[in-house]
Amino acid sequence: MINGYEDEKKLIQSDIDRSNQNISTDVKVSENESSGGLITDKMISLLNYRLNEEEYSSRLYKSMANYLRFNGNFGAAKLYDNYSQEELEHAKWVYDYMQSMNIMPEIREIRKPDCEFESVIDVYERAYNHEIEITKQCLTLAKTCKDEDDFMTMPLAHKYINEQRDEIAKAKAILDRVKAFGGSDIIMYEIDESLLEGEVIY
Ligand SMILES: [Fe+2]
Repeated sequence: MINGYEDEKKLIQSDIDRSNQNISTDVKVSENESSGGLITDKMISLLNYRLNEEEYSSRLYKSMANYLRFNGNFGAAKLYDNYSQEELEHAKWVYDYMQSMNIMPEIREIRKPDCEFESVIDVYERAYNHEIEITKQCLTLAKTCKDEDDFMTMPLAHKYINEQRDEIAKAKAILDRVKAFGGSDIIMYEIDESLLEGEVIY
């Protein structure tokens, strides 16, 4: 009876030792103490990069909205002004997440966005290409979560990826419409009118 109890204690201890071993060998821990060692320095750097890029996107779309409005495309200008605001909301996702993990976000310098465009179609094409680029960045964020065993940050990376799927679809839909019906003045007017009425094209 006593031996049985001692055997069971040994078994439990070996389970504990094994699980401790797994923790120390399988899960990466950070030297960053403010997050309790849960988020690695590499991830923190990527999170700061993410918020900077979202704020850059906001300025790029503001720049595009300025061009569109200046050239009489009031519907598209309204849409791109909305995009500009949405990007600030995306940046806030990172600020809120970092603060919730007790990590101080780092405000970095934002590069100047493009301010000169050849045409309205040029704006639509550049917006689409920009969203593809941002999606690649978000996929890198998700891959790094996987590589760093960072299951805390993974849901945030997925949130960005889901958002990007939507952004790409919207940017591509406008280009598809131009491609399908041509870029004549009347078609561009019709597209702009539908955007002015708040129609979501896709
Ligand atoms: Fe965004």
